[in-house]
Amino acid sequence: MHTIDSINQLRSHLWQAKLDHKVIAFVPTMGNLHEGHLQLIDRALEEADLVVASIFVNPLQFGPGEDFNGYPRTFMADQEKLISRGCHVLFAPNVDEMYPTTNVSSTVVKVPHLDQLLCGASRPGHFTGVATVVSKLFGIVQPDLAIFGLKDYQQFLVIKQLTNDLCLPVKIIGAPIARAESGLALSSRNGYLSNSELGQAAQLYACLINCRLALEQGESDLQKLEDQAQCQLESAGFERDYFKICRQNDLQPATNSDSHLAIVAAAYLGKARLIDNIRFTLQL
Ligand code: PAJ
Repeated sequence: MHTIDSINQLRSHLWQAKLDHKVIAFVPTMGNLHEGHLQLIDRALEEADLVVASIFVNPLQFGPGEDFNGYPRTFMADQEKLISRGCHVLFAPNVDEMYPTTNVSSTVVKVPHLDQLLCGASRPGHFTGVATVVSKLFGIVQPDLAIFGLKDYQQFLVIKQLTNDLCLPVKIIGAPIARAESGLALSSRNGYLSNSELGQAAQLYACLINCRLALEQGESDLQKLEDQAQCQLESAGFERDYFKICRQNDLQPATNSDSHLAIVAAAYLGKARLIDNIRFTLQL
């Protein structure tokens, strides 16, 4: 694997592959890699001739008081994992390379509406930070396709919309959520949890599954289901953020005539803010 930290060097490295019409797949990450990230690499290897991963903890997507400084950085271990999985190129720029300090008022990419909901409401500016860095990374790598985890389902929709709206020639692929045996979605932020919190954390997925079961059994009071889930989470030791039954395509609140649903949740446990979701089709 080639590890490259400069935009120019990456471009010259990928130049020949592009001339040879190799299919390039891209997997952007913020590092501290776990099995969920590595399954994105596996998927990329199935789809493409050349797989480029990136590791960049993007300051623009962290709000004031969030965990940018404390975000786990495990570069050497990440590199080893990518090598063992067969990744071809790792792009790992520093902050100055991505955001030169001379650009005091640089362009940002804002994806309206979607960026105000759910995680966007709890983390103002977060999705503009994500959309901006992903657009820049797409411009740098110029991949044919890019793989994103469905664990960050709202992020996946934001990226799909920006790619569509800006006519970027990149196919966006969503990959399934990798989970621990307990059902807990794997996340770099799970490292903030103590052993006992790790036990409690599985309740987030359990609440999503219970809610889906109740819908499948014919419960039609969506507000009641959301409230019950919030109470269940609080009794398991979580602090509330949101728990919502939404339309799968645009994350607007679902009604009883919607069948393509996503139940999306975020909650705080100890020092971690955890997110998870399930998507399914209800037989009406
Ligand atoms: P990060 O949290 O490192 O995640 C990188 C990619 O891994 C994202 O597409 C995310 O959805 C996926 N991922 C994380 N946990 C997963 C799991 N348990 N199962 C499947 N996929 C999982 O998301 C980001 O970084 C950043 O916002 C980024 C897109 C890199 C922009 O900075």
